[in-house]
Amino acid sequence: QVHIVYMGELHPELHPELVRDSHHGMLAAVLGSKQAAEDAILYSYRHGFSGFAAVLTNAQAAQLSDWPGVVRVVRNRVLDLHTTRSWDFMRVNPSPPSGGSGILSGSRFGEDSIIGVLDTGIWPESASFRDDGIGDVPRRWKGQCVAGERFNASNCNRKIIGAKWFVKGYQAEYGKMNTTDIHEYMSARDAVGHGTHTASTAAGALVPDASFRGLASGVARGGAPRARLAVYKVCWATGDCTSADILAAFDAAIHDGVDVLSVSLGQAPPLPAYVDDVLAIGSFHAVVRGITVVCSAGNSGPYSETVINSAPWVLTVAAGTIDRTFLAKITLGNNSTYVGQTMYSGKHAATSMHIVYAEDVSSDNADDTDARSCTAGSLNATLVKGNVVLCFQTRGQRASQVAVETVKKARGVGVIFAQFLTKDIASAFDIPLIQVDYQVGTAILAYTTSTRNPMVQFGSAKTILGELIGPEVAYFSSRGPSSLTPSILKPDITAPGVNILASWSPSVALSSAMGSVNFKIDSGTSMSCPHISGVAALLKSMHPNWSPAAVKSAMVTTGNGHMLHLVTHTLPLTNRSTSL
Ligand SMILES: *[C@@H]1O[C@H](CO)[C@@H](O)[C@H](O)[C@H]1NC(C)=O
Ligand SMILES: *[C@@H]1O[C@H](CO)[C@@H](O)[C@H](O)[C@H]1NC(C)=O
Ligand SMILES: *[C@@H]1O[C@H](CO)[C@@H](O)[C@H](O)[C@H]1NC(C)=O
Ligand SMILES: *[C@@H]1O[C@H](CO)[C@@H](O)[C@H](O)[C@H]1NC(C)=O
Ligand SMILES: *[C@@H]1O[C@H](CO)[C@@H](O)[C@H](O)[C@H]1NC(C)=O
Repeated sequence: QVHIVYMGELHPELHPELVRDSHHGMLAAVLGSKQAAEDAILYSYRHGFSGFAAVLTNAQAAQLSDWPGVVRVVRNRVLDLHTTRSWDFMRVNPSPPSGGSGILSGSRFGEDSIIGVLDTGIWPESASFRDDGIGDVPRRWKGQCVAGERFNASNCNRKIIGAKWFVKGYQAEYGKMNTTDIHEYMSARDAVGHGTHTASTAAGALVPDASFRGLASGVARGGAPRARLAVYKVCWATGDCTSADILAAFDAAIHDGVDVLSVSLGQAPPLPAYVDDVLAIGSFHAVVRGITVVCSAGNSGPYSETVINSAPWVLTVAAGTIDRTFLAKITLGNNSTYVGQTMYSGKHAATSMHIVYAEDVSSDNADDTDARSCTAGSLNATLVKGNVVLCFQTRGQRASQVAVETVKKARGVGVIFAQFLTKDIASAFDIPLIQVDYQVGTAILAYTTSTRNPMVQFGSAKTILGELIGPEVAYFSSRGPSSLTPSILKPDITAPGVNILASWSPSVALSSAMGSVNFKIDSGTSMSCPHISGVAALLKSMHPNWSPAAVKSAMVTTGNGHMLHLVTHTLPLTNRSTSL
């Protein structure tokens, strides 16, 4: 089993190579030979802190934990990803309406800051990563572009100034990656999209005419459009990332000289003690060296005590809504109209479709509650075929995506999903999905059950901007208090994390029907975290000597209602007057 032997702060006078030799020496003493040590060691952490990752038996791990200087020996663990407009909404724009010098121009768009991103890598050809007009790479930078599959030094530029990948811990857990079976690149190239999305949110250059299939169209940009990016790929095609790799990335980032680290990943509760938590350890040593570390709070809301990444020295970011949504009109056969939320932009508009209520088309062996929420396997394909299905969210089945899959499998042609009020919109790519609140769902149900031949039409999705709808903390966003240290207020701050448009990896097919995109809308604290990383980079460019504590203090004491942890009343969609 891979274990991490953590040895705390480095002696300031020791050369990194001497530190590595001492790790090998320790391991050789325990394993019996130099060769055995060479074979067992995965990483020697020797830049930001001391320690190593190695394949050890439990007995060997126990022996090492008694070794002088060893703080802790922990098992390698698997962590996961937390899976435009938002900048105007946060009032981070070049010429603020209130006058004065905006943070963007004041910081020269973050040009002097380097943001390290721990994620799934990057799609370097994306327009967000062009380096037009950006000055030379800062001289203090010590990182590099490590070559690999479809990635070499020519993929770096004055925007992407570093690219490294760490896969030894992952392969120790899952076996050697076979890129014939799995869509993945053995390099910093992003085969998932998540890392490209987070990096472009933090530091993407201005890209005119960006949109997700026509939605959210406009100029896309990151928070610090001229900041430099250093990519540390630690998460792989399955969405998993391991602690040995993550710690290696922290060690490298500290060595390379990043100013800000953006970490949109973590491990669901229960929370390990700080000394057993690689994100806490890595971020601690980074912060000691003046690096601001920004982490996602997790997507386990809305329940309390679900926040993760809650070490006091990091900035823990919740996700909120912005004043943008995507709406479409629903017209029933009796000419009543309602409004629902959707991101579907396929060719269904203005087609009259037959609608059925899920409970009336359930399979014989399905429970009524399961059928009502369109749980997997609960519908009868004979009855569903060719119809739009009306489903109601239940506590047991919260996800509209599940309903879409169920209806699609039963050869239905669309879904109306009535759910508890929420502003995050699920993406459905093959058949239309319209989310409505319970009030609208109940009215549609009354029509459907009282009419002999109920019909429905969907209008096409439109991007709606306005004040009514934001900001509020997203339903999914993990809430405090921290289950580990409840007396430390967490999350620290909220930033936009609902329906955020950013670059995506075009190597990923969203669905067989839809193919790939260069920009995609996504939601999660993974998306809010890089918003704060971008702002941190602007602050670091303006105030290079500010400590991480000063950066955090400035943000949490000056954030306004557009960024703060506000919980506002949710307006039912029925009360909205929009011309669609
Ligand atoms: C880097 O990759 C590009 C595109 O695949 C190729 O044209 C170029 O020759 C490579 N450069 C080096 C230094 O290998
Ligand atoms: C990878 O998978 C392919 C297809 O399943 C198989 O033919 C090949 O032998 C595998 N390669 C390795 C190195 O395991
Ligand atoms: C709905 O409106 C259309 C067009 O205005 C009209 O032709 C139709 O008769 C109306 N249907 C009902 C049920 O009122
Ligand atoms: C589906 O419905 C058809 C028609 O009512 C019925 O004959 C069939 O037994 C049902 N199948 C299941 C699995 O419920
Ligand atoms: C359509 O049907 C619903 C449910 O029966 C009803 O509430 C609504 O008033 C009807 N609309 C019209 C225009 O008759």
